Amino acid sequence: MLILGIESSCDETAASVVDASLRVRSSVIASQDDLHEAYAGVVPEIASRAHVGRITPVVRTAMREAGVVGGDIGAVAVGNRPGLIGSLLVGVAAAKAYAWAWGVPIVGVDHIRAHLTAALLDGEEGASEASIRALLPAIGLVVSGGHTAMYAIESAVGARLLGSTIDDAVGEAFDKAAVMLGLGYPGGAALDRLAEDGDDGAHDFPVSRLGRTSLDFSFSGLKTAMLYAIRGTPEAGEDGKPVFARTLADHDDRARADLGASFRRAAVGALMLKLERAIEASGDGVRTLMVGGGVSANRLLRDEVRALAARRGLGLRIPPMGYCTDNAAMIAGHAQLLVRSGHADDWSLAAMPTGASLEGVV
Ligand code: KG4
Ligand code: ZN
Repeated sequence: MLILGIESSCDETAASVVDASLRVRSSVIASQDDLHEAYAGVVPEIASRAHVGRITPVVRTAMREAGVVGGDIGAVAVGNRPGLIGSLLVGVAAAKAYAWAWGVPIVGVDHIRAHLTAALLDGEEGASEASIRALLPAIGLVVSGGHTAMYAIESAVGARLLGSTIDDAVGEAFDKAAVMLGLGYPGGAALDRLAEDGDDGAHDFPVSRLGRTSLDFSFSGLKTAMLYAIRGTPEAGEDGKPVFARTLADHDDRARADLGASFRRAAVGALMLKLERAIEASGDGVRTLMVGGGVSANRLLRDEVRALAARRGLGLRIPPMGYCTDNAAMIAGHAQLLVRSGHADDWSLAAMPTGASLEGVV
């Protein structure tokens, strides 16, 4: 059965057709980065209006690229939680319209849980029930612009929250550090590239631990450390506002690369520390590491999780580069697993700004 997936939870309008072995037949993503760059962050009202204009052409393109028509589609899936409510509503309304018109079921998908299923797309191993069962239990790490969370995964569709960020998401920290380094927005990938040329020992940035056993994350201290490393520790000015001794212009290319490399090392180090803790805490109960979300495109993180999995004798599933950041293939792919496990939604399916994936059990 083919599933059409729709994703509009934040600032990407995306549609994709995925088959029952999780092979991606098409994946179309219309990014809104250009619309939000001037604000160095996503403006919800601009995002939802742009989704309205783009959703139909994006779906049409995904159908055409997959070489299918409505009658070939067995279900329509939509990322209906969590996300920006105005953005989610556009995807949910569009998905209901297609499902109604084609006379097929609608399936609501948790965006964060789907980031982990992205690691199973187009896999050489296929995605049979037996091959997925062989991966479990797994630990799943979702690292994106909006979320940083770790899960115990005991079934193909479920997950139990182990820990999450108490302040910034790691992608958000990358984006803010990138703006400080003059790399534009969203600059996580640009910072990753800059870091390749730097000395990661140049600055001793803090790696958040949050005590000895916590599986939560924190990135706001690292962000502040980055700001002070670039601008100097501020002093109170006459009007009480902070006065910085330096600007970015005082750092040459070499110094900027060193800042980027040191930041990346600390950010990735904090993720690895918590992954190691989660593995330890599970005893010998884990078989696989699964990673997903925009920051799973990060070169150092990919290398480090590969090394960790090898060291611990664990399997690793990490998405192909094209499915790390937001996409609809992960939505359609996760819906395949949900349908397979007997899950069905009805027309009361609602857009939800929060989701169970942020609170406990998906
Ligand atoms: O998963 P995603 O598209 O959006 C959310 O669901 O939030 O993730 C986008 C985030 C952005 O913060 C972006 O800067 C970051 O992923 N990102 C990276 C890299 N590529 C994308 N961060 C670090 N290194 C990268 N190579
Ligand atoms: Zn995402």
